Amino acid sequence: MQVYIAKDGLGAAALAAQWMMEAYASGSRRFGLATGQTMVPVYQQLVARVREADPSCRVRAVETFNLDEYVGIAASHPGSFRSFMENHLFIPLDFDRGRTHVLDGMARDLAQECQRYQAELDRAALEFQLLGIGRNGHIGFNEPATPWDSRTHRIRLSPETLEQNRDSFPGEVPQEALTMGIGSILQAEQIVVVALGADKTDAVTRAITGPRDLECPASALQDHPRVRYILDPEAGQGVLLSPNLQNHLEIIQHS
Ligand code: F6R
Repeated sequence: MQVYIAKDGLGAAALAAQWMMEAYASGSRRFGLATGQTMVPVYQQLVARVREADPSCRVRAVETFNLDEYVGIAASHPGSFRSFMENHLFIPLDFDRGRTHVLDGMARDLAQECQRYQAELDRAALEFQLLGIGRNGHIGFNEPATPWDSRTHRIRLSPETLEQNRDSFPGEVPQEALTMGIGSILQAEQIVVVALGADKTDAVTRAITGPRDLECPASALQDHPRVRYILDPEAGQGVLLSPNLQNHLEIIQHS
């Protein structure tokens, strides 16, 4: 596992965008994508870089799979993850929508929707998975105690996550979501986790330097052969101070 500590949030976002461009340049076409505040600057940086590299702004060959979506929220709702992706990435770069996959939180049969999505993931075999991390260590919407071999499933959001999401929903915050499982996430060939800000310090420190612990879903990533974290100095402060740094952990500080 490698941990990069960027000089600030913008530097972290720029590095994540650079690695996505590099993955594309070396042949990756199937990307797992995340939403959330951390991803706003990441996608801003990515859009700028793709536009610079390809002024026609078409990324027709790329296929994307989003981690999660709220239950009971239409794709057109401004708080849906589909809307987030449209606004921050798919519209600016004119993605081929037939190749952008987001779970349908309005599906009549949600169990069947999860099975359908997982089958698509199994077919696609993601080459690159982008992740954020929740304050409670969740990845996707896999809340603490989610089994590590879980596949795409329906989940009840924890009180911390509901609190974290309150700003996106002026009305009632959705209580449930569909999410790729931890097992689904671990299938990706490489994983990049981005975390920004002091409210992520605890989760990041536990995920990277703590024991593998069901209560910290991101600690499941310790078992994956190709994981890189990108942190800003606030999110990374606990890792730098930790007495439990494992030998195989490489910390690279960017100036
Ligand atoms: C979103 C997702 C979540 C977020 C996490 C961090 O698709 O999967 O795991 O990455 O909740 O959210 P922010 O970036 O808003 O702090």
